[in-house]
Amino acid sequence: MTDKILVTCECAPNIALIKYWGKLNEELIIPLNGSISITLDRDVLSSKTSLILLKTNNRNIQITLNNKTQVFNEGDLSKNSNDIINKKRFFTMLNKVRQNCILSDPFEYEIKIKSSNNFPTACGLASSASGFAALAHCLSKAYGYKGDVSELARLGSGSACRSCFGGFVKWTTGENSFDSLASRLFPSNHWEEMNIIALILEDGKKSVSSTHGMKESVQTSDLLKERVKIVENERLLNMENFVREKNFDEFARLVVQDSNTFHAVCLDTYPPLFYMNDKSKEIVKFVHEYNNLDSSLKLAYSFDAGPNCFLFVLDQHLNELLFLLRNIYFRNFDLKDKVVSNNLSKKENFING
Ligand code: DP6
Repeated sequence: MTDKILVTCECAPNIALIKYWGKLNEELIIPLNGSISITLDRDVLSSKTSLILLKTNNRNIQITLNNKTQVFNEGDLSKNSNDIINKKRFFTMLNKVRQNCILSDPFEYEIKIKSSNNFPTACGLASSASGFAALAHCLSKAYGYKGDVSELARLGSGSACRSCFGGFVKWTTGENSFDSLASRLFPSNHWEEMNIIALILEDGKKSVSSTHGMKESVQTSDLLKERVKIVENERLLNMENFVREKNFDEFARLVVQDSNTFHAVCLDTYPPLFYMNDKSKEIVKFVHEYNNLDSSLKLAYSFDAGPNCFLFVLDQHLNELLFLLRNIYFRNFDLKDKVVSNNLSKKENFING
């Protein structure tokens, strides 16, 4: 019998190259289409989570997220505006672990979780993927979970399953909870010359959450059905091949196309979802103008469910691009946060305990 178990984990956010948008199963978070992403360098952006299991008579759950603490009882599914975690999803993860683990007495512990991001939560970058991935790793390790860690993370937030691994990661649809899993396609050092730059154009909270937005799209968008087909029949395989071959020209074209198709689906949703704003569109124009200067593509953009932009560029063009962004382009532009440059090849997820 163990009285105290402590585990710490650090995971980085991921950026989808081929995006997930729409669920086949809402409860189990099984997606309509597979997706592929890149996990960022955890030195630049990461969520660090620690989990303590204590043998006491107390069955409370205490969660601290970026210095805000909430305590709730086992099984409390009540929703409050000041909740710092989606309790329903949290208990789904927790119960999944407790039902299939090596601890003989998994329900006998008090749970304390502390999580913080090394980037401002309000800077407009998704922290739920890195946060739920780190939580899933901690739960898995602390309880000795016998299932797949990416399944656990997915039950917290779909895109989180991809943050369980570093490098290039694929999440396949599946039909059941146990076969909708993420796995690593290539390690981060596979394409060392790749850089990702996050342009923070707005730092507020999203107007419509991804969870809600994709539900509306599934219910109302015909274009979504077409996108699911093209992603499943062509794009996933093509993206995997372009990354394998390190073919930046084709990679860039497909990243841009998939981001645009996703936002077209948002526009086809009724009522429409506008995630990109005028500044986002200015960036799109800039990227195409920049690419038109050469015969092959040098730069790609991708936008998630918000106005902020992720740029993909190889080492050989990085300095030129940063110079243009800082000295010419963004001089007249209100950037909320500095340009974050990220080289993929550095640090991957870390777990200790
Ligand atoms: C646009 O994973 O945040 O970033 O599964 O409901 O928690 P839930 O949604 P979430 O959706 C992410 C959507 C996206 C695309 C992507 O990351 O693939």
